[in-house]
Amino acid sequence: MARITASVYTSHVPAIGAAMDLGKTQEPYWQKVFSGYEFSRAWMKNHTPDVVFLVFNDHATAFSLEMIPTFAIGTAASYAPADEGWGPRPVPTVIGHPELASHIAQSVIQEDFDLTIVNKMDVDHGLTVPLSLMCGQPPKENFRWPCPVIPFAVNVVQYPVPSGRRCFALGQAIRRAVESFDQDLHVHIWGTGGMSHQLQGARAGLINAPWDNAFLDRLIADPQDLSQMPHIDYVREAGSEGIELVMWLIARGAMADVAGQGPAPRVAHRFYHVPASNTAVGHLILENTP
Ligand code: DHB
Ligand code: FE
Repeated sequence: MARITASVYTSHVPAIGAAMDLGKTQEPYWQKVFSGYEFSRAWMKNHTPDVVFLVFNDHATAFSLEMIPTFAIGTAASYAPADEGWGPRPVPTVIGHPELASHIAQSVIQEDFDLTIVNKMDVDHGLTVPLSLMCGQPPKENFRWPCPVIPFAVNVVQYPVPSGRRCFALGQAIRRAVESFDQDLHVHIWGTGGMSHQLQGARAGLINAPWDNAFLDRLIADPQDLSQMPHIDYVREAGSEGIELVMWLIARGAMADVAGQGPAPRVAHRFYHVPASNTAVGHLILENTP
């Protein structure tokens, strides 16, 4: 049986990827950001899963505004890093896990969540920056990510976006799907994007550190209650792009305690920093204790 052993949460600011790709990680500005991921990279090495189920959002890169699936699961064998305007990031192709992805699609769709099935997709900073933060830049002689990844894209760009409540329930269905897969796999589920930021309009540059930290507290201790928060609260308090945080509820919903199968997860790591580019960076690692 496959099992979800941990969840990871992190922002996906594109400038973080650029800092890595351009060799700026030792500059004092960026050092402060990357210091929060030193623990995480060691943790990834010691707890490398068999598969990462990576919840992210596409930024009108793969889907454009012509076609906007609310929830889309990647069932492909591989995914190329997207060209976001400056050429693709110099990071490895993402290897998928079509068998597990197809099983999750089958199970979750039969539980009444209408997923879009995606057999071909390029992946933008929403997916590659979290991988870079958690895994570092793979060495030339072994240029690959440490494990296969199932990309799961959520529309948080074009209104209407899914509610936190729906995302939390979807996470619970994903857990059931993983646990009914007949192979002995360790799976991590990642929720990415956020934290507070607004890139457009009169409030561009908005950061709300007290709200972000309260979100982290509630995500850890009472995600059920947090999942009831309406989308307008995210936008008012965390900025128009702060709505990306609903994706964190998918990962949190997949943890054992929510299913009544275990105690609250262990907080292996917590980090918060302002700023990275225009954005607050938040990061958590939660482990299911056996
Ligand atoms: C930026 C873009 C993002 O998608 C995000 O989540 C945060 C910041 C940016 O362009 O700075
Ligand atoms: Fe984003």
